[in-house]
Amino acid sequence: MEITNDIKYVGVNDHEIDLFEGQYIVENGMAYNSYVILDEKIAVMDTVDANFKEEWLKNLASALSGKTPDYLIVQHMEPDHSANIAAFMETYPSAKIVASAKAFTMIKQFFGTDYPDRQMVVKEGDTLSLGKHELSFVAAPMVHWPEVIVTYDAHDKVLFSADGFGKFGALDVEEDWACEARRYYIGIVGKYGAQVQTLLKKASALDIQTICPLHGPILTENLDYYLGLYNTWSSYAVETEGVVIAYTSVYGNTKKAAELLAETLEALGCPKVAISDLARCDMAEAVEDAFRYGKLVLASPTYNGDVFPFMREFIHNLTERNYQKRTVALIENGSWAPTAVKTMQKMLEGCKDLTFANTNVKIMSALNDDSIAQIKALAKELI
Ligand code: FEO
Repeated sequence: MEITNDIKYVGVNDHEIDLFEGQYIVENGMAYNSYVILDEKIAVMDTVDANFKEEWLKNLASALSGKTPDYLIVQHMEPDHSANIAAFMETYPSAKIVASAKAFTMIKQFFGTDYPDRQMVVKEGDTLSLGKHELSFVAAPMVHWPEVIVTYDAHDKVLFSADGFGKFGALDVEEDWACEARRYYIGIVGKYGAQVQTLLKKASALDIQTICPLHGPILTENLDYYLGLYNTWSSYAVETEGVVIAYTSVYGNTKKAAELLAETLEALGCPKVAISDLARCDMAEAVEDAFRYGKLVLASPTYNGDVFPFMREFIHNLTERNYQKRTVALIENGSWAPTAVKTMQKMLEGCKDLTFANTNVKIMSALNDDSIAQIKALAKELI
């Protein structure tokens, strides 16, 4: 695939993967992108996952048409991109690695050597001329690892954005960008909104016509749309008006409460209600929804004097990603000593700018007139 006259795609699609990064369901697989810039000097942008060494080396050889690369630019050391550094260095013994100092530390950790005679350490603001293509390096620490650099090619106005602007899904499957890019961003990068904001500010000074991420499609049109979504996600702003109801239920009574709340909200004209059974849904989708919409209702039985385990995991997923700037409402169930509301409030107490609804719903075993009235009052309050 040709990105520009001089930039070729040499990445691979992975349809064998079960869980990306050991946890994310990827029904449409995953792409590990890699690129070659062909100029007087030749640079390769990152490698791919270990399982695709042969395919990647073949793609690379084909794009090179007998030429020899001068540089391997390592923007990110997570193994889905860095696994084939040693294979590359063996295949092309005259090439050098271009990476940040922190990346070289990790190269030594992963490969037992940091190639002392073949390294070029770069930092923010450094440049590398390939001929026509002048590359400049922009530090992107903690987006989402500390060693990350992104690379701007002033000649073709291309930003090589590392994991930024990536998404789940292989490139040979057509699917909506935002849905899987959001789940990817919130899941993997979501904690680091402040660092992404810093990177977006640096990017705004560049004339970017193409974004080449390490996952997902190459972005060439309507870049303001993608940049705008990244700004929304990284500033923890509400993307879509609506209510997320995340529940866990042992015998179905808390589920009935969650469903009654959803029906009541819809009847009152709520623009969107997203409901998830945390024991059965893809947790990453529920987490994504919590960050997408403005209001969140958590409904859990009391369990061992705590909340139900899936709710504990869900709330932890929110708090570790700096969940903030939202309205939260709480529903608890219990047959002798309901304490889930108190526990959930405590778990969320470190979150910035949360507004708790005035109405909490208390269910004693099963819905009754009192708890139904509380659910209706909560729906009105949320609307
Ligand atoms: Fe795609 Fe952070 O690795």
